Amino acid sequence: MGARLGLAVLLLLYGFVSVAIAASAPVIFNITIPKSASGFEEEDAYICTTLPLPAQPMKLVGVEPIAKQEIVHHILLFGCSVPHVEPKDGNQPVWDCKRARTCGSFEETILYGWGRNAPKLELPKGVGFSVGGSSSIRYIVAQLHYLSPKPKGDSSGVSLSLQKDPVPYSAGMLSYASWFSIPPRKKEHLVINRCCYRGFQPLSTFAVRVHTHGMGRSVFMVRQRVNATLAPKNALDVIAKGDPLAPQGFNPVKRSVIYPGDPLTVTCAFESTNVTHWVSAGPSHDHEMCNMYLMVYSAIPHIEMCNDGEGMVADTQPGSMPHSALVTPDPFPGWRPPKPSDKVKAASGAQVGTLDTLVFVRRGGPSVEVGQ
Ligand SMILES: *[C@@H]1O[C@H](CO)[C@@H](O)[C@H](O)[C@H]1NC(C)=O
Ligand SMILES: *[C@@H]1O[C@H](CO)[C@@H](O)[C@H](O)[C@H]1NC(C)=O
Ligand SMILES: *[C@@H]1O[C@H](CO)[C@@H](O)[C@H](O)[C@H]1NC(C)=O
Repeated sequence: MGARLGLAVLLLLYGFVSVAIAASAPVIFNITIPKSASGFEEEDAYICTTLPLPAQPMKLVGVEPIAKQEIVHHILLFGCSVPHVEPKDGNQPVWDCKRARTCGSFEETILYGWGRNAPKLELPKGVGFSVGGSSSIRYIVAQLHYLSPKPKGDSSGVSLSLQKDPVPYSAGMLSYASWFSIPPRKKEHLVINRCCYRGFQPLSTFAVRVHTHGMGRSVFMVRQRVNATLAPKNALDVIAKGDPLAPQGFNPVKRSVIYPGDPLTVTCAFESTNVTHWVSAGPSHDHEMCNMYLMVYSAIPHIEMCNDGEGMVADTQPGSMPHSALVTPDPFPGWRPPKPSDKVKAASGAQVGTLDTLVFVRRGGPSVEVGQ
């Protein structure tokens, strides 16, 4: 009887919660270049601006560009814990971010991209980026690329939809970057960057952005499963690909699920037939780049980088293992708490079980058993 009453109360509460979720509308938060901003009237300018996000934790569930393609070539949004220039005395900062960084720390997360002819990025229903509050994203920096000098009084930017209510899934990102040199006069030179997905939950893919400079011809990600017998059709599949010569915003990808341990290889194909010298990786247009940003969603946010084969997890993300964490096999894989009646038997000789249990050890902290 008590249990039934409890269930009824739970259902009633659930009903209230659903009503509450339906009732609260997203907050619109605009980040635009101030009309008064001046001193950026050069061609090919990259201008950044930012505003602090609300102090309470929010979900970023939508982005609308406030920009015309004739004026703004592309907009990228970066999530930062601190921006390169912080607002002072309530003044909105504006800076040249072709020569300076977007975020103040090296931990920048690209959240959104819009460009000439690129489709608008829509987060799937029920998916949001965790921002504000004590998340690692306290500021969103908008980077606007103007090909022609910025018209006087222009106030292009973005309109963000933020909501207080939780969403079932968090958006996250797997970012790939490489350091390399391209030899001259090659029809094709491949740059390969391979990491295993190091999180503990499945990730669903939904959008991808690729980036190279002028010599890039294609960028693609392949998953090669270790055990081809288990999944013969998926043993080698292209999960995401992009044409770096097309507008470099985020484009939708066919949904796939990435599992813990999946080896993911990003390859950039470059062409240097008409180039007479070696070209190395770097930020300027005389250099090249090989980047892929794969947008994913999962129950707990996950942001991870693969830098030249070395996986780096942002340890401020709740869905990520800290840098200092180690995955080790359980030293006592067969151990289970004895049933009361087995106490005597267990004491006389431990049974070795067959389940492999992984124990995640946080250095200097308690162990957490997460799976088998
Ligand atoms: C945000 O910008 C849009 C488009 O310019 C405008 O219609 C809207 O009123 C702005 N909202 C806020 C809250 O400033
Ligand atoms: C792959 O999976 C099959 C089927 O479960 C199993 O028989 C085989 O031993 C596995 N191979 C490896 C290398 O783990
Ligand atoms: C290389 O140069 C030739 C001759 O100028 C030109 O026809 C060709 O399109 C160039 N190829 C590339 C990839 O730029």
